[in-house]
This record gives sequence, C-alpha cells and structure tokens, in this order.
Amino acid sequence: MPLAQHTMDSAPPFPEPGDRQAWRRWRDWKRAYLPLSMGDLLVEIGNPLNPTRSECRAVHDRLARWNMALFACNPHVFDKEALRALAGKFGLHRLDSNWLADDDGITSLTVREGGVRGEFIPYTNRAIRWHTDGYYNPMDRQIHALLLYCERSAAYGGVSGLFDHELAWLYLHEEDPTLTEALAQPDALTIPARYEDGRLARRDIVGPVFSRSPSGRLHMRYTMRGRNAHWKPDPDVQRARARLEALLASHPPGMVHGRLEAGMGLICRNVLHERTAFADAPGHERLLYRARYFDEIVAVS
Ligand SMILES: [Fe+2]
Repeated sequence: MPLAQHTMDSAPPFPEPGDRQAWRRWRDWKRAYLPLSMGDLLVEIGNPLNPTRSECRAVHDRLARWNMALFACNPHVFDKEALRALAGKFGLHRLDSNWLADDDGITSLTVREGGVRGEFIPYTNRAIRWHTDGYYNPMDRQIHALLLYCERSAAYGGVSGLFDHELAWLYLHEEDPTLTEALAQPDALTIPARYEDGRLARRDIVGPVFSRSPSGRLHMRYTMRGRNAHWKPDPDVQRARARLEALLASHPPGMVHGRLEAGMGLICRNVLHERTAFADAPGHERLLYRARYFDEIVAVS
C-alpha cells in the first residue's frame, strides 16, 4: 500500500483519555502499517536547500504515520546550513542551543577526548541506551523535534535504533492502561541536579514521562539510564518503568535499527532512539550534526 494514501490529513488524532472509540480508531490506524526497516523511512532529497513539494510530502507521510523519517542526499551538497534550511521547511526555527552546542546552535557530535564534552556519552564512542532528547530540560523547554545528519560514519559500529514513542505508549496502554497513566504522573521521573565544581549548574527536573504537547500530540521524556534518573517510588510507576524497559528490550514491531551513513539524516518528533558503541579509524571519525527544536513539526501545504 503506497504511503501516499495515508497522509497527515487522514491521521486520527492522538486519543483523549477515556474516549474508547477514538482510542480504537487511532490504535488500528497505527497498527495497520508499521515500518519494517530503516528503508521504509527513507526519502531521497535532491537539493536539501530547496526540497521539492513531493519530497516534502514523502517526508510528511512518514512523519504522519511514524513520527520519523530518514532522508538521504548528496553529502557533498549538505552542511549545517542545509540542515537548518531543511528544518525550516517543517516549521522548525527555535533551536535549543544547549551549553555544549556550537556557536550556531547546532551540535557537532564527535568523539572528544578529555574536557567537559568527553564526560558526556554523546561525545564518546560508548553505547547510548534508549532515550528521548532533552529529558533533562526544564518542562517549559522540552524538545519536540530532533534532526540528525551524518557527515561521516564510524569505521565500525554506531548502529542506531529508532522507535516511535506513540507505539511505546500504544503497546503499554494495550497491555494495561494503568501503565500509561502511571507514566503520566507529573512527578514520575526526576533528573537530579547537576553540579560543576561544587556549584549548582542545573536544578532537579521533575516531570512526567508521557505528556501532551501544546498541539495535543504525545510527548515523551525518557532515559533508560540507571544513573542520574530517579523514578518515583510508587508501585505503579515502578511497574510501568519495568514494563517499558522490557518492551524496549523485546524488539517490538515497528522498532528499526540501522546505521546512518554519510549523507543520511533523521527528522523526527523526538522519538525513542539508541546507539551502539562504535570505533573510529583515520578518515572514518564519526561526525553527526544534531539540531533540537522547541517547535513542533508542522505540515507543509
Ligand atoms: Fe539522543
């Protein structure tokens, strides 16, 4: 079935709590077509500075169904400016210029030995477990869209896993609605304060795992890390956390894995993702650009 038949327009809205009819309609629609591989997500874009309408529609069709799309373009014509321009085509302008980002607000992810960056996993070659981006951000600065672009892949490894966070919600809700209710508690997950040289650099961040975005979509705030994440000591929350972890470990339908090669990128509504460890070699030093946005992705006309 061509994706074009399932456009943004036909996507049922994320169901309101207690609306069983809306839940069933949305669930059946989500379950009807799941991505089987990274290839299902992929759209080729000729000129990323000026993608055609049909290229944008193809990206949107994937975003509508799966909240994520991959794009592939000529690596010789793509750079950080192209990434910013592409984001703009999808209504994304307000970048989260976190303190480790480059001056232009886009982060260059590459292995950094020593220094403050080397203390953070994204700047190492170690595996990164399932998470959504910015889970440690204050609740009024949550990340709603994430773009990645691979300038250079590693010599070995660096395989990404992607999983639509709406599917995580769906599978848990289908198993037992109290699981998703527990993870919507406003104090379900706390990221403890961060100190630098004994001084407070960031306060405790307390918030839910599942919440609604300003436009009514599902937003997820999650890390599988055991350290630096405190889960509410409530039996329902603890059980839901364990079920979510088991779900992610079970490779459920709709979860895909693959490697971003040079010239490939991801545009998504901050879906769940992970990355395996990797090894660089001379000329094959993994370099990814990352842009995080406070804005939500909007439909192109
Ligand atoms: Fe991430």
